Amino acid sequence: MNKQEAENRIEKLKKEINHHRYLYHVLDKQEISEGALDSLKNELFKLEQEYPEFITADSPTQRVEGKPLDKFGKVAHEPPMLSLFDAFSAQDMADWEGRAKKIIKSKFNLDYYCELKFDGLAMSLRYENGIFTKGATRGNGKVGEDVTNNLKTIESIPLRLRIPSQSEFKKNGFDLAQTSKILKAVENGEIIIRGEALMTKKVFNELNKKYEKAGKKVLANPRNGAAGSIRQLDSKITAERKLDFYVYGIAGADDLQLQAHEQEIKLAKLLGLKTLENNKYCRNLDEVNEFHKYWEENREKLLMEVDGVVVKVNNLALWPVLGIVGKGPRYAMAYKFAAEQVTTILKSAVWQIGRTGTLTPIGVLEPVRVGGVTVSHVTLHNIDEIERLDLKINDTIIIERAGDVIPKVAQVLPKMRSGIEQKILIPKNCPICGSRVERIPGEVALRCTNKDCYAVILRRLSHWTSKAAIDIEGLGPKVVEQLVKAGLVSDIADFYALREYDLKPLERFADKSAENLIKAIAAKKEVELPRFIYGLGIRHVGEETALRISDFTRQASTSGFQVSDFKNGMDDVIQTFQNIKQKAWEEMYDFGPVMAKSIYDWWHDGKNIELLEKLKKNGITIKQQAGSNTQHSEFIGKIFVLTGTLSGLTRNEAKAKIRGLGGKISATVSKNTDFVVAGENPGSKFEKAKNLGVEVINEREFSKMI
Ligand code: IVH
Repeated sequence: MNKQEAENRIEKLKKEINHHRYLYHVLDKQEISEGALDSLKNELFKLEQEYPEFITADSPTQRVEGKPLDKFGKVAHEPPMLSLFDAFSAQDMADWEGRAKKIIKSKFNLDYYCELKFDGLAMSLRYENGIFTKGATRGNGKVGEDVTNNLKTIESIPLRLRIPSQSEFKKNGFDLAQTSKILKAVENGEIIIRGEALMTKKVFNELNKKYEKAGKKVLANPRNGAAGSIRQLDSKITAERKLDFYVYGIAGADDLQLQAHEQEIKLAKLLGLKTLENNKYCRNLDEVNEFHKYWEENREKLLMEVDGVVVKVNNLALWPVLGIVGKGPRYAMAYKFAAEQVTTILKSAVWQIGRTGTLTPIGVLEPVRVGGVTVSHVTLHNIDEIERLDLKINDTIIIERAGDVIPKVAQVLPKMRSGIEQKILIPKNCPICGSRVERIPGEVALRCTNKDCYAVILRRLSHWTSKAAIDIEGLGPKVVEQLVKAGLVSDIADFYALREYDLKPLERFADKSAENLIKAIAAKKEVELPRFIYGLGIRHVGEETALRISDFTRQASTSGFQVSDFKNGMDDVIQTFQNIKQKAWEEMYDFGPVMAKSIYDWWHDGKNIELLEKLKKNGITIKQQAGSNTQHSEFIGKIFVLTGTLSGLTRNEAKAKIRGLGGKISATVSKNTDFVVAGENPGSKFEKAKNLGVEVINEREFSKMI
């Protein structure tokens, strides 16, 4: 992306994000998921980091979320209600810890308190002399909306704080100084509680059932349910929604001389507020990662929706040292669970052929992490689906993947278009075999009219990876078929664009086997010319012919053709082979016209050249045949035919020797044969050689020659 494109994209992102944020945070409406919105924000943040000259004061990255509604009274927050920075991986967390350690100048591991990140609404509760007097939304962090009456309908919010006994304080690890400070604040002072108002999944489902029965509009999700009911002018409606409230902090805990965040949570519980029992003290980041992994996999077990883990440095004395940057503190981090919806770009669409000849459009994406895996391809199902989504190449799209479900395009963001979008073309001919494509009557599917097409592509791809061709370990026909079915591979060049993350979601692929296959493919990127020629699957070109025609550079010097050492790689190969006319193939190798035409045509077919270019782009290089310096004049260009059984070496060893010295092997004897090597019990070839006057040598003579 160049600077101009970046500027344009930043503008589009800002508009799009602002639109959705206003809908979501102010009007409690939702057009796209929070995950998708997060990924737009992330892209904007990254682009702005790269091009800071385009950061403007009105950018969504520059302000604390929320906008208080006029319909409620205002409440000032002291201290302000902060937001959290997001982390998406163990690496992000390690980086965060690294930065924190630098600031506090410690090389020791930090310890943490981990909480689940509720998907509700942040609230601040003020208790004066132990009585609940003011409850407010976060608003913009400094000023929120007064929703005291609505909060009073929430049963888990005590209207008066509970006063714990001395022994309870003691049992929970509070010392005398702390106990007396706390009691003073509760009985004769102020306590500010911070936490989340939310709707449990159970209440959400019950309410929606009820609403549905009554023909009322259903709630989109529990968070919406909670938001809508908190911001109600009629508290009766709030009461009906049966919200819950969980504490995640006590503001000004240092005034109470608390030492650890864990104590804040314990204290809140002692004071009669609700805290989450699943919170956990962790001695280091390894334990944090374990906690995160466990809840990412088991979040269904919780009563409420959560979207990550909030990790807080446990030692409260470090909080002011670590301080605050912009919208959030350095002492806490939202370690998000894999988003189930994210945005990305559709880079192109390819058509994948299925076993029954059906063509399915596959979207090639800018790779993104969604639902815990990286996704680079996504099925677009069929033409109707493309039309329904109004999907175009270069569109910004929302990708969805929940659990084990196959990723799909959930939505297109048409407002993000910049004019470079292109229609997805519907093929008239099969991209694999070139046959006509028809639309199955009464169905949305396209089908290749060539019945063998799927078999052809599988055969072609497996031929390339086979032992005699490129010989890629672990890439036999079964795996090839699996890759074709998954839409990852439709020509031989696609093998080299595979990444570990493409393979990991596939059946039978574990982390290790994915890594091994990618390594095996990479190890064979440099290909010997004969294997390369053979692997291309040119009609009539078998292993032997491939060896012979790839040898043309040595022939060339004596036959007057342009010699190439392929220094310029694939371009040289294409050039050199294209320079050889059909007649020349016939003369140079004594090929019949059918074979010569097949070879000539292959190198003059635009589609094949495109494939070669793609191979080049994906890093394939050509190695000249090994052994050119060991060649022996007696062998160069000479054609050998083997017959009978050799005693000193196997037939394959003999072939390898001949080839290594510059000779060629032929299966049949003709007048062009130079030597027939006759072992024991020679067959008809021996007779034919004698008839044609071809020189016949026995094994001893052959051994001498080599
Ligand atoms: S701590 C110092 N703890 O996440 C930061 N927040 O982006 C204050 N949230 O507005 C928040 N669960 O609504 C904290 N266990 C938790 C939380 C939590 C959910 C929300 C909260 C806040 C947002 C921060």
